[in-house]
Amino acid sequence: MITDMKKVCVITGGGSGMGFETARQMGKDYYIIICGRNEKKLEGAVHELKAEGIEAEAFPCDVSDYQSVEKLAAYAKEKGKVAAVIHAAGMSPHMGDAKSIMEANALGTIYMNNAFFKVMGEGSCIIDVSSMSAYLTPKLVMPVGLYKYSIINPELFIKKIMKRIGFFPKSVQAGVAYGISKNFVIWFAKQDAARFGKKGARVLSVSPGNFETPMGELEKEEADAYTKHCAIKRFGRVSEIASLFAYCASESAGYLTGVDILCDGGLVASGVNPLGKK
Ligand SMILES: NC(=O)c1ccc[n+]([C@@H]2O[C@H](COP(=O)([O-])OP(=O)(O)OC[C@H]3O[C@@H](n4cnc5c(N)ncnc54)[C@H](OP(=O)(O)O)[C@@H]3O)[C@@H](O)[C@H]2O)c1
Repeated sequence: MITDMKKVCVITGGGSGMGFETARQMGKDYYIIICGRNEKKLEGAVHELKAEGIEAEAFPCDVSDYQSVEKLAAYAKEKGKVAAVIHAAGMSPHMGDAKSIMEANALGTIYMNNAFFKVMGEGSCIIDVSSMSAYLTPKLVMPVGLYKYSIINPELFIKKIMKRIGFFPKSVQAGVAYGISKNFVIWFAKQDAARFGKKGARVLSVSPGNFETPMGELEKEEADAYTKHCAIKRFGRVSEIASLFAYCASESAGYLTGVDILCDGGLVASGVNPLGKK
């Protein structure tokens, strides 16, 4: 049983990086459910959260599997009022091939919004985590005309997108898939604002720049080349993005919906050309 009637906050990708730090910050006000595929990692994270006095539990879930996401949403609803969902799960170009990246990032976001739409109500908020890559990947690459299929038939949408990605050389497909998937996340969160709004709920996206996380470490070599273009010449700290997520999900941000918030130390503002940055 949840003590003192805390509201429930579900955090995908909560076993590490931004998601874990968000659990630490939001754990003061919410009952936390962290999700991911790696049960051992989740258990370790819950152990650490509990040691800090946070009420938390793990729920293994693969966001690219709709049944798995539906189970998560139903479980969260059983626990209490689902007040906040931080959908931070994602895969970067060094973590898998183009298809698995597209399924985790794009399909995962469709599935999360669709499943949690059913269990979220007045005053709740879902934050879909995108990336500054959505801004840096050349616009010409983005198959925006295909995005509408995500609403009608998510699986067909992924098929069509993967066909488009197949036109690129194999060596760049994972990177292109990442950029497209994160551009799509922004689009999907925006178009979903009206649907959530009818329930008095909010949906928005946040686009991080380079942050100090396990994923950030994997991408470090390429990411480092960007730092000199930032207004703030360092990687972001997880505490800085976690507090942004926490604020966006809070009642204080009750009028914030259907928008993307870019938190990148001023990199995109520099106008850097990703193709000629070195
Ligand atoms: N760090 C950066 O510089 C940076 C920059 C821009 C955007 N982002 C975005 O920020 C978000 C958080 O990333 P992070 O930097 O905190 O990296 P991270 O520590 O690697 O976290 C990503 C998490 O996603 C989970 N995950 C991956 N695929 C999943 C799936 N199919 N189902 C469920 N969970 C899955 C992983 O857990 P399991 O392995 O247990 O599944 C992992 O805990 C991601 O969406 C990422 O794309 C990060």
